[in-house]
Amino acid sequence: MARPRVVIDTDPGVDDAVAILLALASEEIDVCAITTVAGNVGIDKTTLNARRLVELAGRPDLTVARGAAGPLVGALDEAGEVHGLDGLGDLEWDEPGVPEADEHAVEVLARLAEEAPLTIVAIGPLTNLALLQARHPGIESRVERLVVMGGASFHGNVTAAAEFNVWADPEAAARVMSGAWPITLMPLDLTHQAVLNDADLDYLRGLGTTVGERLAGMLEPYAAFHDQWYGNRDVIMHDATAVYELLAPGAIETVGAHVEVETSGRLTRGETVIDRRRGFAHSSTRVGTRIDNDRFVGVLRERLARYPLV
Ligand code: BDR
Ligand code: CA
Repeated sequence: MARPRVVIDTDPGVDDAVAILLALASEEIDVCAITTVAGNVGIDKTTLNARRLVELAGRPDLTVARGAAGPLVGALDEAGEVHGLDGLGDLEWDEPGVPEADEHAVEVLARLAEEAPLTIVAIGPLTNLALLQARHPGIESRVERLVVMGGASFHGNVTAAAEFNVWADPEAAARVMSGAWPITLMPLDLTHQAVLNDADLDYLRGLGTTVGERLAGMLEPYAAFHDQWYGNRDVIMHDATAVYELLAPGAIETVGAHVEVETSGRLTRGETVIDRRRGFAHSSTRVGTRIDNDRFVGVLRERLARYPLV
């Protein structure tokens, strides 16, 4: 079977960084572009961070295309307190040599989807995907899979109801979730089962590679944030679960569901209403429910160790 052609639509983001480096070290998928969106930090920073990460991964050939600078409605609510002011834990970086593409992210996605079957891994707000759907009607049928990190069945992380990627652009998420995409959703209930602990951070440091050192450096303040917010230093690998779904098909348990996004509730704006009643068991929309963290971390460690000593 041909390797899935993949675009990662992202707002790096410390856990986005892990997801991208995991993807670029994995032979099961063919990553053909990174598209950026405003989210954890503004679009200038997420695009710069994507260029930094692609260079760090030794893939300067990869297209990095800038996307939407803010949500469809209202202003961006960044998450700098989680990911650092620069979005990657505020480390020192040299200016990356990797250029930014001339083409807009939405047009890159459209072109790649028209060329051949495409898988999209969306790990930021869904603004680019909503624009793609509006500007290229019927494009959903050209997309083999859309794996989204977003939403929550039970508790949000920005408000009691809303998860960050959906909260950052609820109108976009509502449109995408009601589109005809073959969606697999990784909500917080799933991603909170996928964590790295201090021993994993030591492992990354001990690799003696630039990738290991950079990742451990970004994950350190992220762990401190988790400690303050959740009461322990385990760092949640939200976005890497969406990539793992492609590397180890079936490893994440899913259920069929119907998902809608609340855009108008006074207390519930940005909530994903995930209806898992039995009538939806065979829905093409799947929602991740369980992941074996030991297996996930094993794959993550092995892949991240593939980067060379430089
Ligand atoms: C999501 O929000 C962002 O802060 C993370 O990168 C992840 O995509 C988790 O709610
Ligand atoms: Ca993200």
